[in-house]
Amino acid sequence: MSEEPQLEARLEAQEAFEPPASFVEQANVTDESIYEAFEEEWPAAWERAADLLDWEREWDQTLDDSEEPFYEWFVGGELNACANCVDRHLDERGDQPAIEWVGEPGETRTYSYSELHEEVNAAAATLRDLGVETDDVVTLYMPMIPELPIVMLACARIGAPHSVVFAGFSASALAERMEAADSDVLVTCDGYYRRGSPLDHLSKAREGLDQVDEATTVVVERLGEDAPSTVGSEHVYGDLVDPHRGSEVEPVTRDAEDMLFLMYTSGTTGKPKGVKHTTGGYLSYTAWTSHAVLDIEPADTYWCAADIGWITGHSYIVYGPLALGTTTVMYEGTPDYPEKDRLWEIVDDYDVNQLYTAPTAIRSFMKWGTEHPDTHDLSSLRLLGTVGEPINPRAWKWYYRHIGGSSCPVVDTWWQTETGGMMISTLPGVGTMKPGTAGPPLPGIGADVVDSEGVSVAPGEAGYLVVDRPWPGMLRTLYQNDERFLEEYWNSYSDPEDGEWVYSPEDGAKLDDDGYITVLGRVDDVVNVSGHRIGTMEVESAIVGVEGVAEAAVVGSDHPVKGEVIYAYAITEEGQPETESFREEIVESVEDGIGSFARPAEVVFTPELPKTRSGKIMRRLLADIANDDTLGNTSTLRNPDIVTDIQQEVREEEDR
Ligand code: WT7
Repeated sequence: MSEEPQLEARLEAQEAFEPPASFVEQANVTDESIYEAFEEEWPAAWERAADLLDWEREWDQTLDDSEEPFYEWFVGGELNACANCVDRHLDERGDQPAIEWVGEPGETRTYSYSELHEEVNAAAATLRDLGVETDDVVTLYMPMIPELPIVMLACARIGAPHSVVFAGFSASALAERMEAADSDVLVTCDGYYRRGSPLDHLSKAREGLDQVDEATTVVVERLGEDAPSTVGSEHVYGDLVDPHRGSEVEPVTRDAEDMLFLMYTSGTTGKPKGVKHTTGGYLSYTAWTSHAVLDIEPADTYWCAADIGWITGHSYIVYGPLALGTTTVMYEGTPDYPEKDRLWEIVDDYDVNQLYTAPTAIRSFMKWGTEHPDTHDLSSLRLLGTVGEPINPRAWKWYYRHIGGSSCPVVDTWWQTETGGMMISTLPGVGTMKPGTAGPPLPGIGADVVDSEGVSVAPGEAGYLVVDRPWPGMLRTLYQNDERFLEEYWNSYSDPEDGEWVYSPEDGAKLDDDGYITVLGRVDDVVNVSGHRIGTMEVESAIVGVEGVAEAAVVGSDHPVKGEVIYAYAITEEGQPETESFREEIVESVEDGIGSFARPAEVVFTPELPKTRSGKIMRRLLADIANDDTLGNTSTLRNPDIVTDIQQEVREEEDR
């Protein structure tokens, strides 16, 4: 027997890993006392995060908690996020690459900090020309092309909050987000490349624009000659920006609490939530966590293989890394094009030092086999990170061994769109790593696991994750909807009369004896497909929008690679044939309403849905059926017989 399987078996059994000595030697944070320091100096300890930035005016107060839970951080402070991410690096590292971009077809672009400065200034001047003023929300609907971070930074420069809509969202999802944010400026692009073929993006953008009031539209020409549709009434980005090259736009001074951006995310209702992040707190927090958890130094080449259209990319491709003056890598395409070694080729070519990706990607790499990473030199890697969903210990260990060569710490970082940055993770130079368990709350973060009454549960017991202290990166509210903000995040466990405010992230979790937190997944009606948060209500409303559908229920079903996939149960109206083409119509309606990433894996027709006597759909039971789990108590159902029928339908569907 070769040594391999034996070693593999030994690794399988190992439950704890110490930070590699070679890493600790050079780590940004190596002293365990940082946890204590944060406790003792709280909230002033957070000034060390703010101190990573350049302020035009120092703050008067670290934390203002007089209007809980509407907390304010670094009150009275003034700064500009773009100046912090770009201008302040010019003297020391103007020629150092800020962004290394790799296009899917193989072309590359490098922007030094000076070049990024020039591009951002030209883009800022262009936005001004178009009439964008301070506090106007600019919508960006672009894939992973350099103009996306450039325009984000240009917005930040002139104090116009951006609202980035992931390019995979559908036309109507774009329209809904533009309307909700009262945004009448859109920057989009003609298309991009996916698996070698040009993909039309502009038609989708135009279709979205048809559904909103008039908007000024700028189109980046990414495809050029390959563009499937020529530009019509829109402005061409290059034409507007080119004349401004070389001109400078003075960064607008912003209050710490001024909005930096909005990001729409899914919740329990069908309407997406506009999460509001601020200039001072958010930027301090992403810079701090990039420093302490991702161990980023200016000299590093760091790669977060997420999409800027989601919060991970905002915080850890754009703002955190650029605030620290490092080189951030951006890749346009998929990890298996042209071959399944694309990521490892990029790590090798650019000597990437840190790689941050999602468990779903890691599980795909595992499936594809070690021969892909093995053909590349990955020795430049110093740290690995994961985010987006729970990582199973096997995938963690595979990542540690086959990508990190057993010499890189793996940080499993729990956080959310709403938290702005990482909340639970080991500090890579300090904490023992336990595969499958994110780790303790970061220094200064108060997290606990409680029962439905808000009482802490014993170690080992499952409960609800809560955050019981504010932090600088937290969302400040939901855009123009303070009421929903209170309702969604603060109502479950807070005791306002006692002045106790507890944030509820809607995740299940358990604690171990060392205070490490294992996150078990969402407890609300949100499904996590490949690290994308999808509200079941949103999918349901797209399905019941199809003529011939009477009722629908959507649940998540466990999936070995994607984490979860969507199972849709639909009741058809009298006389509607349950055909294959009708099923396809339902799937298309979800693609049109949300995007193809929300496509149901199965559409199951059923004559009834399991309901309680009060008429509530038993989603938990539907999820158990989708997962083929032992079923919970069905005796409280009004229609217990339907359960076996649905089980039968699901089996038939899955065999199809
Ligand atoms: C939800 C947030 C954070 C950026 C990407 C997703 C799940 C996130 C972990 C982790 C277990 C995780 C949670 C959370 N999640 N990271 N390390 N371990 N679960 O952002 O779309 O706001 O989703 O992702 O369920 O609530 P998001």
